[in-house]
Amino acid sequence: MYRNRFERYMGELTARLFRLYGSRWDFHLVLSDLVALMDEAAGERDPGLLARDADAEREADWFLRETGVGLTLYVDLFAGDFSGLEARIPDLRRLGITYAHLMPLFRSPEAHNDGGYAVSSYRETDPRLGSMKDLRRVASRFHEAGIALAIDFVFNHTSDEHEWALAAKRGEKEFRDYYRIFPEKEEADEWNRTLREIFPDTRRGSFTFVEAAGGWVWTTFNSFQWDLNYANPRVFLAMCREMLFLANLGVDALRLDALAFVWKKKGSDCENLEEAHLLIQAFQFVARIVAPSMVFKSEAIVHPDEVIRYIGVDECRLSYNPLQMALFWEATATRSARLLRHSLSRRWAVPEGTGWVNYIRCHDDIGWTFSDEDAREAGIDGFEHRKFLNRFYTGRFEGSFARGEAFQLNPETGDCRVCGTLASLCGLEEAAELHAAGDARAELYADMAVARMLMLFGALFALPGLPLLYAGDETASLNDGSWKADAVKRLDSRWVHRKARKPMREGTFWDSREDGGDPWLSERRLRVFTGLQNIIAARKAESGLGKTGIRFFDAGDDAVLGFSRAGGKITVLANFSDRRVPCRPGFIPPSVDLLTSEPFGEGDSFALGPYRALWLKER
Ligand code: GLC
Ligand code: GLC
Repeated sequence: MYRNRFERYMGELTARLFRLYGSRWDFHLVLSDLVALMDEAAGERDPGLLARDADAEREADWFLRETGVGLTLYVDLFAGDFSGLEARIPDLRRLGITYAHLMPLFRSPEAHNDGGYAVSSYRETDPRLGSMKDLRRVASRFHEAGIALAIDFVFNHTSDEHEWALAAKRGEKEFRDYYRIFPEKEEADEWNRTLREIFPDTRRGSFTFVEAAGGWVWTTFNSFQWDLNYANPRVFLAMCREMLFLANLGVDALRLDALAFVWKKKGSDCENLEEAHLLIQAFQFVARIVAPSMVFKSEAIVHPDEVIRYIGVDECRLSYNPLQMALFWEATATRSARLLRHSLSRRWAVPEGTGWVNYIRCHDDIGWTFSDEDAREAGIDGFEHRKFLNRFYTGRFEGSFARGEAFQLNPETGDCRVCGTLASLCGLEEAAELHAAGDARAELYADMAVARMLMLFGALFALPGLPLLYAGDETASLNDGSWKADAVKRLDSRWVHRKARKPMREGTFWDSREDGGDPWLSERRLRVFTGLQNIIAARKAESGLGKTGIRFFDAGDDAVLGFSRAGGKITVLANFSDRRVPCRPGFIPPSVDLLTSEPFGEGDSFALGPYRALWLKER
């Protein structure tokens, strides 16, 4: 099988590499080294994974099934360590999880490590989580339980403690060439002129002066995350070796972290360059030849015109859907789904065999990456709108229900991004505060917050693609304020939504101890959890929500997002407002709501309640 795939795809792979490295005298050596490392990895692939490879060739778009439900979690925060996680597999199954993205698992610097996104070695796990052997066991237990394993490939940078970085600091030429190190500040300044700042409150510009390295090191993210130099084909080879090592652990989906930044060209913003696509496609062909059961997931949190360009059978079969994510929050703040519908309807289409990973929250901030042009067409000024959204979600807009934190406030542009858990951003934290203060509005506000969350889940789980939950949100966990007192986390407000769980009782996701014994709050959180369980069950039971298309339509009121699935047999309506919205008679044929089994008859006029989502299936 490997030989067949090799013959089939090696030409495609070589063509990509030729465009990147073909002018080098040693191009033929690069190719022969690549073949040698692929042969080796293919020889090491275990029989269980070979069987998965054969399955994946039969059903390459497995992630589009209606039964697919994803969960992102930090192993330590969720279950302590690998063995703890293994013990929780029955609970994951009971919730219906079929895809688990485990946040970074590998050795990284002790204190500052960007939540593990500064990898010091892919060959060693974080010792606090357990050993490589434990991780392999988790992978095979997942597979037995029908759960696909997703992990990160942090390939734009390594930590400054990676052995390559250490060798570069020792002055070894071979390894200095793995990174971009400029002895002269002028050189760094020249590049900086056209670069966006990603973490402006941590450090201005994209370079860090490192004494030991004798120069300015390219660090797009934090100072301890050194960008790799892919202009050097040896870096591509070395990272292929790491990638195939991960593949052979039993990884089903590889999340390509920060993939927009991997190629640099002077005078450009060094994001989304053509060469970055060629490079990712080259990695993809290497993976497809050696480990075809592993698909790539794109983490491009950039302009929607660029996000779409990473999606393809030859590049990333899966992609985060940051537009859907950001606009769900935009519509929640404005109580209008106008921009959401307008943007999604024109930007949903992806190639056959690929799909969106739809989500509401993840471990990162919310950035307002909608297109200004789409906004203009919907009568909205993008710049002012982003300012409003930031104010709305970070407690600077009167009447907002959200409790969020600003992230990476840029002192020059005033721009920022937003952090917070689903529940706190949806108003449950505000309601809990009112309750604690004995304010009678608490009940109503909590009801609204719960309804808001369930409406968002209702809309999310009816979309085509893979719905991805962020651990903690399924039980409506509130923000964790303790990050502010922590010397390391204090610098990164994303920790507000990275919360350690109390050890959970077996057999349930639920633990009311999190609420400090406040039964009022527990009761409301439990409503979210049971509501979500119902939504998951309804999705899994309806094949029309699997591999079928979507059509967005105008539901007659801006508050309502309307779309149909399964060739029009299923109509989804989601009311993003706190108003009752009347729907005109004859709007839908006789149907039944898949979420409640409630019938809706032809000719009936009905009103869609505040924050209500309906999945109407033709009777
Ligand atoms: C991605 C990760 C984020 C990390 C960054 C740098 O965007 O999701 O958490 O800070 O890459 O690796
Ligand atoms: C990502 C994005 C940025 C995101 C950050 C991590 O790669 O480009 O918007 O917020 O890294 O937080």
